[in-house]
Amino acid sequence: KKVFEPEGDLAGSQVLVTAGGTREPIDPVRYISNRSSGKMGYALAAAAVNRGAVVHLVTAPTCLEPPDGVKTYHVKTALEMLREVMNLYQQVDVVVKAAAVADYRPKMVSKQKIKKNDSGLIIELEKNADILFELGQQKKHQILVGFAAETEDLINNAQQKVAKKNLDFLVANDVTQPGAGFGTDTNIAKLVFPDRRIESLPMMDKLELADRIWDEVVKLRYGKTK
Ligand code: CTP
Ligand code: CA
Repeated sequence: KKVFEPEGDLAGSQVLVTAGGTREPIDPVRYISNRSSGKMGYALAAAAVNRGAVVHLVTAPTCLEPPDGVKTYHVKTALEMLREVMNLYQQVDVVVKAAAVADYRPKMVSKQKIKKNDSGLIIELEKNADILFELGQQKKHQILVGFAAETEDLINNAQQKVAKKNLDFLVANDVTQPGAGFGTDTNIAKLVFPDRRIESLPMMDKLELADRIWDEVVKLRYGKTK
């Protein structure tokens, strides 16, 4: 009987991809979230399966069907995502954090639906943990890749995030450009490295960008072992 042997340049690697925008509950019927569609993260997961990786996809809610062959973990909030990601971290070789994690969550979650009244409503928010920062602090053999959507000062912000979060590189995109960012099928990205090298990519399909990102990961993997 033939044993299944995956082929491809990510064969033998376990990768963790996060996707979607987390939802932070306000009351039983409402939440705070963001414009992330999950398309980039799902494209990354599908591309990694095609290249032979064992793929763990930790996903906030999206309208998308998880790609075939992916181990999928559904979460809603940033706290739930933190828990799943930390559970998987020691066993994976690569983490790509395409998820848009809410920076804040409502401090109190109302048990009942909040009724409207004639005055306004103030919702107090408290800070969520920075998952990628935590991963950076605990990094051993793993390759860590971040994502950043920016509306201004792209390179500066990106370089600061690479350093602060101890990343191997960051995929930055200016979401004010047509053809980049939320909900689109294409992206215009810059790969920003810790040595300040920057690679500006042309507009491309999110699946194509996913493969470009895995190319970069494969290059880095030759320099690292468990
Ligand atoms: N990230 C995370 N946990 C958070 C916030 C962000 O893991 N609580 C990750 C995202 O998944 C992404 C990267 O950090 O890969 C950059 O996210 P971004 O929102 O651009 O960075 P922040 O550090 O939150 O800075 P800011 O929102 O102020 O630009
Ligand atoms: Ca943020």
